[in-house]
Amino acid sequence: MKRLLKILAYTLGIVALLIGAFVAYLHFKGIPTYPYKPTPEISALNVAPDSTRVARGAKIATLLCNECHKDNATGRLTGRSMPDLPAVFGKVNSLNITHHPEHGIGAWTDGELYYFLRTGIRKDGSWAPPFMPKFPIMADEDMYSIIAWLRSDDPSLAADTREYPPNAFNLFTKFLSNMAIFPPPLPERAITIPDTTDQIAFGKYVADALCACYACHSADFAKQDALHPEKSLGFYGGGNPMLNYEGELVPTANITMDKETGIGNWTLEQFREATRYAKNPRGGPLHYPMFPHTTLTDTEVDAIWAYLQTVPPIKNAVVRYQPKN
Ligand code: HEC
Ligand code: HEC
Repeated sequence: MKRLLKILAYTLGIVALLIGAFVAYLHFKGIPTYPYKPTPEISALNVAPDSTRVARGAKIATLLCNECHKDNATGRLTGRSMPDLPAVFGKVNSLNITHHPEHGIGAWTDGELYYFLRTGIRKDGSWAPPFMPKFPIMADEDMYSIIAWLRSDDPSLAADTREYPPNAFNLFTKFLSNMAIFPPPLPERAITIPDTTDQIAFGKYVADALCACYACHSADFAKQDALHPEKSLGFYGGGNPMLNYEGELVPTANITMDKETGIGNWTLEQFREATRYAKNPRGGPLHYPMFPHTTLTDTEVDAIWAYLQTVPPIKNAVVRYQPKN
């Protein structure tokens, strides 16, 4: 008996030591770095800043970038603190992406921007952890539009020195970045925007790649597949535990066509109003982090609707956010 206890004590001691060593390893290793390996085409990338691209890029930014990078205090993309990230990530800020060469991204080349937006890897090999999204399935032309817009004279991008301090990532972020979430690969072939006449393919592109509706509207950010969104856990079935600026829980809605727990009984008109103006057909607004997608055209919203008809319905009754008072 005594001997058994002794063995048990040793075993527990060794396990505690191993855990301690692992925590120390993560603590000192930090966020992993990766080789910066652009193809010759990416290194030589020089995006022509024509007005069509700048306009398209501005629209994409309202769907994908401004929400996180715009600071209402400066009116510019100088970064902001992010109390709306899941609390396990600790305190995080987004960064200054104005034209300033030191405080912003004015000194980055088009190729460096392209590589970073696809993979999250910077020229120095450092990697942006999961809360900076990566865009591995976006069409090449849309990537170029974002870059053209980032270079444009949009007042929100004017060089600005104001910025938040660099992020000191917590143990959980280090754990995720070392063990669970990795940079997506560069696309192996050209990605084009489907033609609007192929409504379902076009709607899939707008929903999955351009707006990343699925990212919020599936079950869990940690169980997503950025390369094959349809393989994400609970694809469009909602329930993802998101937070608002006050740190309150706002689970995402089930937007599959399940008639009881999803939006299978909605009309197209209700869907348009919800998507474009965050209007809740039951009355009142839909709450942040759902934000109005005002720059989407009818063609785009209708195509998302058509595409959602093809997504397998999921029965998942989400307990929705109720504002106090
Ligand atoms: C969900 C929030 C979120 C969204 C959406 C988002 N970002 Fe970020 N972004 C971040 C955070 C947080 C960081 C800081 C990561 C770090 O500290 O490594 C960041 C970092 C960056 C950086 C690196 C800046 C530097 O100096 O290293 C660039 C460039 C960038 N984002 C561009 C964009 C663009 C362009 C878009 C839209 C296509 C976008 N981001 C969308 C949160 C976001
Ligand atoms: C940043 C996260 C996020 C993104 C991106 C997002 N949504 Fe939402 N959405 C939410 C949240 C959270 C709710 C629930 C809001 C509430 O309960 O008031 C919601 C609610 C909805 C609803 C209301 C459903 C209902 O039953 O009331 C619809 C429809 C919807 N979103 C469609 C979309 C579409 C289409 C897209 C892409 C164009 C999209 N959302 C992108 C977070 C998001």
